[in-house]
Amino acid sequence: MKNFDNKVVLITGSGSGLGKDAAIAFAKLGASVVVSDVNVKGGEEVVEEIKKLGGESIFVKADVSKKEEVQNLIKNTIQKYSKLDIAVNNAGIGGPFKPTTMYTDEDWDRVIAINQTGVFYCLREELKVMAAQKSGVIVNISSIAGLRAMGNGCAYVASKHAVVGLTKATAVEYARFNIRVNAVCPVFTKTPLVEQLLDVDPAMEKKLIQGIPMRRYGEPADMTNAILWLCEESSAFVTGLCLPIDGGMMA
Ligand SMILES: NC(=O)c1ccc[n+]([C@@H]2O[C@H](COP(=O)([O-])OP(=O)(O)OC[C@H]3O[C@@H](n4cnc5c(N)ncnc54)[C@H](O)[C@@H]3O)[C@@H](O)[C@H]2O)c1
Repeated sequence: MKNFDNKVVLITGSGSGLGKDAAIAFAKLGASVVVSDVNVKGGEEVVEEIKKLGGESIFVKADVSKKEEVQNLIKNTIQKYSKLDIAVNNAGIGGPFKPTTMYTDEDWDRVIAINQTGVFYCLREELKVMAAQKSGVIVNISSIAGLRAMGNGCAYVASKHAVVGLTKATAVEYARFNIRVNAVCPVFTKTPLVEQLLDVDPAMEKKLIQGIPMRRYGEPADMTNAILWLCEESSAFVTGLCLPIDGGMMA
């Protein structure tokens, strides 16, 4: 018996990076995984990888910033698997790396639409299903930037703080429905998102690592292990927690 046998897990933005790593880990532990992303190629490849490992998975394309696509994602999940046990709201973008005064309306709106409103749209639909089931676990992916500021990414920092707020608000509201809502707040982890940042300023790599007491980047597995724990029975009394996985940075 594996930890997540018979569980249905939905992960947004799982065609790449942290979401992909978590999707494969859940599948290896017995879950049926709904892989969702705007990137069809990336998402379908993850499903193929899971199937090669003997796991169960489907891909559903959804842009989390579009409410109809999020509704369709949940509808497809329920049509296929009849329930939703676990949701990981992971889809996100970094946005432009520049000072606040250089941010255009479009720069701001795009980051907020995906990182903040996207998490709200997902939470709203997931919570409807889970409240009716009277069970469920949700993990939102915020960031260290949801707990402290970093320069040159005002929309990212604001949106990730909002994810922390949404996590706490929904945890308090839905505890009585037997639903737990927590967040993981990763430090820099080498995925395509961070590689884009390093492409703009290669000197950044050294600077970023100096701020981390353990002097290394996070590995996707560090984040996946935290997500898995927050979805297991061993964390049954944990809700509203926004957990930094950061090599000591927040200390
Ligand atoms: N990598 C890090 O250092 C780091 C640190 C802190 C937080 N995070 C957060 O982790 C999450 C995953 O990031 P990652 O590092 O794996 O990046 P990534 O770019 O590898 O993966 C993000 C995925 O989200 C998808 N996506 C983007 N916009 C979308 C949309 N509108 N709808 C649906 N999917 C969309 C992308 O196609 C991509 O597959 C993000 O929320 C990010 O902010 C990452």
